[in-house]
Amino acid sequence: MKKVDGAESLLQAHGKPEKEVYFDNGNSGWVPPEVVEAMLPYFNKYGYGHPSITNRPGWEAYEAIYEASEQIKKSIGAEFPEEINFTHNFTEANNLAITGTALANKTKGKEIIISEIEHYSVMFPCEELQRKGFKLIKIPVDKEGFVDLDKLSSAVNKNTLLVSIMAVNHEIGTIEPLKEIVEIVKDKNPETIFHTDASDAYTKTPLNVKRTGVDLLTLSSHKIHGPRGAGALYVKKGVEVEKIIYGSLSSQPLWPGVENVPAIMGFSKASSLAFKKFKEYNKYLENLRDKLIKGILEEVPDTLLNGPLGNKRVSDNANISFLRVEGEAVTVELSLHGIYVSSGSACTSRVLEPSHVLLAIGRKYEEAHGSVLFKLMRFHKREDIEYTLKVIPKSIKRLRKISAIKS
Ligand SMILES: Cc1ncc(COP(=O)(O)O)c(C=O)c1O
Repeated sequence: MKKVDGAESLLQAHGKPEKEVYFDNGNSGWVPPEVVEAMLPYFNKYGYGHPSITNRPGWEAYEAIYEASEQIKKSIGAEFPEEINFTHNFTEANNLAITGTALANKTKGKEIIISEIEHYSVMFPCEELQRKGFKLIKIPVDKEGFVDLDKLSSAVNKNTLLVSIMAVNHEIGTIEPLKEIVEIVKDKNPETIFHTDASDAYTKTPLNVKRTGVDLLTLSSHKIHGPRGAGALYVKKGVEVEKIIYGSLSSQPLWPGVENVPAIMGFSKASSLAFKKFKEYNKYLENLRDKLIKGILEEVPDTLLNGPLGNKRVSDNANISFLRVEGEAVTVELSLHGIYVSSGSACTSRVLEPSHVLLAIGRKYEEAHGSVLFKLMRFHKREDIEYTLKVIPKSIKRLRKISAIKS
């Protein structure tokens, strides 16, 4: 791993700020103490064995994972715990969904359809398959990020093997009409396999695999305040997916290698906590989100909201472009005040490419460059938002004064 010059001195020079508000929950979520506690026994007290080995700690570990798969199954309305396949993150789950489906179902056709705003962990495996001879079609979106349903409908044909369209966009929070999208695809070709990356939708919007009719669905742990090191792919019983990595025993037929039992248990706990008060938490988040968006747009001139407003936007997402500043500069400046955000594209900060999602909704390069993502959490208090709204106008003013971008 490469050392980044400057990071150390920045951390030392400024020390830890008095107040901290963490808004980077899309890239790596804050984990509450109840979840950490639920994980702890699985390191050294209970179920710390290998789930595929028949000694006592191994059986305990197996039982624990089974229970976790029951929780995840229930939370998405799936039928069988075997339909839940744990991976070590959601990049793995998305790769398994895309490449595993293509390998297992070659006779169904060689065409794959995705939207233009998929996460790279969906887009890149599809582009790799394109290099290997599959046809890849990317469906455009409108200025709020909604997939063009007419273009989708005309793209599906008898050779369409797989369609993958995310339930909620990770950057701009657009809630896609998933049920309608699946119906359009299945009406044109009932054999087409439908995958959705539901990482940003899970625990934030109602997700039911039976109601929506999806075949494969990616779920996140760290986006729901579980730990990193766990993700899952739902595979509907009867849908063929082939392994894409090979190795030793696992209780997960599609994902060899020892399971991360503590992380899976944390994932399961995070899921049950989030669903305890699903409606209440999301209503609360919506209120905070709207206060934040309104406050910034009113107080800071030359700002643009990216993505839709109201109930078409996921409860925890605020994405704003600050014109005439670099998003990266905003992350550093706000960090000095204890406000932690990411810029441009979630998961691709430090890559100074403008976000493909923002370009797809029609933002110009300079608008995309100044974008900042705030991912709220139910653990935020109103005072956190008020503090943020106090800091941002001054910070942006300061950055604009020293910015080289003048128009
Ligand atoms: C929508 C979406 N899918 C997949 C991923 C990849 O997740 P991970 O980094 O845990 O593999 C991300 C990144 O946070 C994401 O935003």
